[in-house]
Amino acid sequence: MEDLRNGSKADGHQPDQPKTNNSSAYKGLYQYAKPHLWTFLGVFGCIIVAIAADLLQPYLVKVAIDDHLTKGDKNANTLFLIAGIYLLLSVGGFVFTYLQNNLLQYAGQSIVASIRKHLFRHITKQSMSYFDRMPSGSLITHVSSDTETINQFFSQVLLSVLRDGLTLVFIIVLMFQLDVRLTLYCLILLPIIALNAIAFRSYMRKTYQMARTNLSRLVAFVAENLAGMHIIQVFHQEKEQQKQFSERNQTYFRSNLREIRTNVLFNRSFDMLGNLSVAFVTWLGGNAVLGHSVPFGVLFAFITYIRQFFQPINTITQQWNTLLSASVSMNRIWSIFDTVPSVQDKPGAAVDISGVKGQIDFNGVKFSYTDDQPVIHHLDLHIQPGEMIGIVGTTGAGKSSLISLLCRFYDVKEGSVTIDGTDVRDIPQEKLHRLIGLVQQEPYLYSGSIVDNVRLFDDAVSREEVMQACRLVGADVLIESLKDGYDTLLSERGSGLSAGERQLISFARIIVFKPKVLILDEATANLDSHSEQLIQRALAVVSEGRTTLVIAHRLSTIMGADRIIVMRQGEIVEEGKHRELLQQGGYYEELYRHSQGRIEASGKPGSGAPAIEAG
Ligand SMILES: Nc1ncnc2c1ncn2[C@@H]1O[C@H](COP(=O)(O)OP(=O)(O)O)[C@@H](O)[C@H]1O
Ligand SMILES: [Mg+2]
Repeated sequence: MEDLRNGSKADGHQPDQPKTNNSSAYKGLYQYAKPHLWTFLGVFGCIIVAIAADLLQPYLVKVAIDDHLTKGDKNANTLFLIAGIYLLLSVGGFVFTYLQNNLLQYAGQSIVASIRKHLFRHITKQSMSYFDRMPSGSLITHVSSDTETINQFFSQVLLSVLRDGLTLVFIIVLMFQLDVRLTLYCLILLPIIALNAIAFRSYMRKTYQMARTNLSRLVAFVAENLAGMHIIQVFHQEKEQQKQFSERNQTYFRSNLREIRTNVLFNRSFDMLGNLSVAFVTWLGGNAVLGHSVPFGVLFAFITYIRQFFQPINTITQQWNTLLSASVSMNRIWSIFDTVPSVQDKPGAAVDISGVKGQIDFNGVKFSYTDDQPVIHHLDLHIQPGEMIGIVGTTGAGKSSLISLLCRFYDVKEGSVTIDGTDVRDIPQEKLHRLIGLVQQEPYLYSGSIVDNVRLFDDAVSREEVMQACRLVGADVLIESLKDGYDTLLSERGSGLSAGERQLISFARIIVFKPKVLILDEATANLDSHSEQLIQRALAVVSEGRTTLVIAHRLSTIMGADRIIVMRQGEIVEEGKHRELLQQGGYYEELYRHSQGRIEASGKPGSGAPAIEAG
């Protein structure tokens, strides 16, 4: 164990590695294994029986040779009986090995399934700042392959240690039982075996890790390329990327070959040692048989055992790599479990949200993602229930950050954000998020039917309600034109629907879930002007009776707002109605002129609503 700890620390290629050591990782695993204690005991029992059944077979042959054949026993019945027992033993060995494997897999897979379940739940509870730090690729690895490696810990490492370890012990006991002197001679071989294993171990580990590292490089490269495929094609980078891929592919290929070569060499060296010892025993024991100090049957059994002796040692040594990667995986998973969400519900926060009207106040808010770079400086904004607020400003002005604070994806550094006078930090997140409906640039649709996408798989919402909502936002015509109408299955992320159609469906969600506050963050940025008009109409319906905040790329979306907030570098620089702001001739007017100019320059006046955002 001690050795192992050093091993995985030396690994060092995990930058976000936890400080948790292995003993606590295994302690954590033990918590998951505990409910399966009886299954593990069952496995242990099966292993004992299966090993006994396997190892008694040569012993039986020895009995047949020494007690009957060489004594000239003519009784065929006893031989028949022995053959029968032999058969029984091998059937028993088969049955119990089968049982043992199934039980162990059952326990291992159950443990891993429950770890995976908790892990996913834990990840979904993390605050947004956590996802800023953790690339989703590595989270996917943790949930999928790291948990699988833990399963290998059970199905390979634990099994091998138990089964092969016990087999070794049994073989040694049996050998001593057969002939002490011969056994002692054989044990001389042990140091040679150990030396061989040690010599190979570090080399095997190196080649193994090299292969893993090269594989993850390859995978990362592919992932990166897929994500940026349009850039690659637009800039004609295909050749260059193919070259780079080929290089990585070759490196992985070579390291894989090296790993395989090492493993084969190691296995064969064990075979060699096995053969050597058989020759050794044949020579020593043969002389003893000739000198009548050892019966022939004993020699036979001995040779069989010494052959069987090497297999388990070989297998156990090979578990080393699996054990190492299992420890690394476990540490990674446990470190995820150790992270506490930075945004948390106050204990005992029980607020009644049923009577909320939707008044929103930002009181002297200061905010930054990282400690040194303030994103919102000192912001006061007071919004009446039912008011519609438009928010404009160039990219990076802090509009989305403002929304994130209202949704409490992050906590303010100073000041407060309140809804109907209650600090959002005092409202349990679940309730807070029920109060707010957020529509973003790219609405998220799940694979499932349209009905389920609108009601978010909540069966409490009836089909009629869904249909009514879709009618209200004007999505009904579109949906009814689809092949299966409301039951049309959307593929992942709703591909197959246009951006505007997806947006309409997310609007229907708002109607169904009736949040008191509605937020649109660049919801119309991706739309053509026709879809935008549809959304515009839907917005008029959806915003009815709700406090609505609209961050918009296009002026037409917010021109009718009760009030427009103009943001610049984390501050509100102007506010008022569209007309007033234009008359004021300030920053807003400048933004407006820019967008007008852009439209004229593009030579397509009226082709879309004027965009006032540079981004
Ligand atoms: N998750 C984040 N981590 C760190 N910085 C961020 C993050 N999101 C936004 N920022 C920074 O905060 C500033 C405001 O961003 P944002 O609120 O998204 O602006 P807007 O929505 O107006 O375009 C920008 O400088 C941006 O780089
Ligand atoms: Mg934004």
